[in-house]
Amino acid sequence: MAFLSVSFGVVVVFFLFSTLSIAFPGFSFNWGSDGNGRSVGSFHLTPEFYQYSCPQVNDIVMSVLEQVTAKDPRMAASLLRLHFHDCFVQGCDGSVLLDDSTTIISEKQSNPNRKSIRGFEVINEIKAKLEEVCPLTVSCADILALAARGSTVLSGGPYWELPLGRKDSKTASLNGSNRNIPPPNSTLQNLIQLFNRQGLDEIDLVTLSGSHTIGMARCVTFKQRLYNQNGNNQPDETLERTYYHGLTSVCPKSGGDNIISPLDLASPTKFDNTYFKLIILGKGLLNSDEVLLTGNVGNTMNLVRSYAEDEVLFFNRFAISMVKLGNISPLTGQNGEVRKNCRRVN
Ligand code: HEM
Repeated sequence: MAFLSVSFGVVVVFFLFSTLSIAFPGFSFNWGSDGNGRSVGSFHLTPEFYQYSCPQVNDIVMSVLEQVTAKDPRMAASLLRLHFHDCFVQGCDGSVLLDDSTTIISEKQSNPNRKSIRGFEVINEIKAKLEEVCPLTVSCADILALAARGSTVLSGGPYWELPLGRKDSKTASLNGSNRNIPPPNSTLQNLIQLFNRQGLDEIDLVTLSGSHTIGMARCVTFKQRLYNQNGNNQPDETLERTYYHGLTSVCPKSGGDNIISPLDLASPTKFDNTYFKLIILGKGLLNSDEVLLTGNVGNTMNLVRSYAEDEVLFFNRFAISMVKLGNISPLTGQNGEVRKNCRRVN
C-alpha cells in the first residue's frame, strides 16, 4: 500500500513538472544555485523561450538589423561587440545598456567602452518595436544576444541555435567593466586569465577573437605597437613592414586617437577567416590579436593556424563559443526583470 501511494505521488509530481515545462519553455528540474542568486536555478535558457509569448521576436530583430546594416555595415560588428561587453560584466544581463541614474553608475563610461562602444540606438529601436508587439516580454539581454547572432549571419558568418530567457539586471558595474574586459595591449597570459574568469577557455579565446574579422579599432588602441612597443621607442617587430607603414600614415605618434582602422584590412565587413590568415602574415591590428600566434602559452598558435586553413572549422567552433559566451551567469526565472526601456530599470 505504501509502495502504491509513493508511486502515485511520483506520477503526480512528474505530471505537474511536465505540464509546467510545456507551459513555460525553459522550466526544468535543475534546482542548483551558484550562491549569488545567479542562475543555474530552476530555469535555464532555451531556444524556444519566446515560442508562444513572442514568436515574431527574431523576425523583428532581423528586419531592424537589415535596415541598419544596409546604411552602416560596421554596425554589425558594433552589435557583436556589445553582447561581449555585456556578458563579461556580471553576466549577460543587459547591464551595459543602462544609463546613469540615481541608482546606476553606467558602464558606458568605463575605459573599454568610453568613446568606443556603439549600437545602443539600434537596441533601443528593436526594443521599441518589440514593446508594440509583445509588451514586457523580451529582455534587453536577449535582444543583445539575438542582435549578435543576427549581425554575424548578415555579415556572412555562421548561424547557431540561440538559448533564450535571460532577464535584465537592476544593476550595472563600472568597476566590473574596467576590470573584466581585456585591454588591447594584454599579454596572452592576461587574456587567458580574463577568459577563464568567465568560464571560457583558450579555445573560446582564440575562436571569439575571430570576431575581429569585422569592425574597426581606434588609433589609441594600437598606437603603442607602432611607436613604443617595449618602452624603447621601437615598433612591435612582429608587424609586417608595409602594414606597419600604412598604419603609421593613419595613426600619428601624437594625436589622432579616434581615427579608425579596420581590424581585418582585407575584408572589414565580411565575417570570414581572413582575420587568422592576416595574423600569420604579421597583419593583425591589436597586440591581443598578434599574441594569439606569438604569445607562446598553451595551444593558441595551433588554433590560429587551424582556423586560417579551415573556415568551416572556425565557423563551427564560433557557433559553440558564442553559445558559451551567451550563457555566462544569466539571470533567469524570478531573478531580474524584463525592462520596458533598455536604458533604465523599471
Ligand atoms: C580577446 C580579447 C579582446 C580584446 C583585447 C578586444 C579589444 C578590442 C578593441 C580595443 C577594439 C577596438 C575598440 C575601439 O577602438 O574603440 C575591439 C573591437 C571589436 N571587438 Fe574586440 N576584443 C577582444 C575580444 C572580442 C570578443 C570576444 C568579441 C566578440 C565576441 C569582440 C568583438 C569585437 C568587434 C566586433 C569589434 C569591432 C567593433 C566596431 O567596429 O564597432 N572582441 N576589440
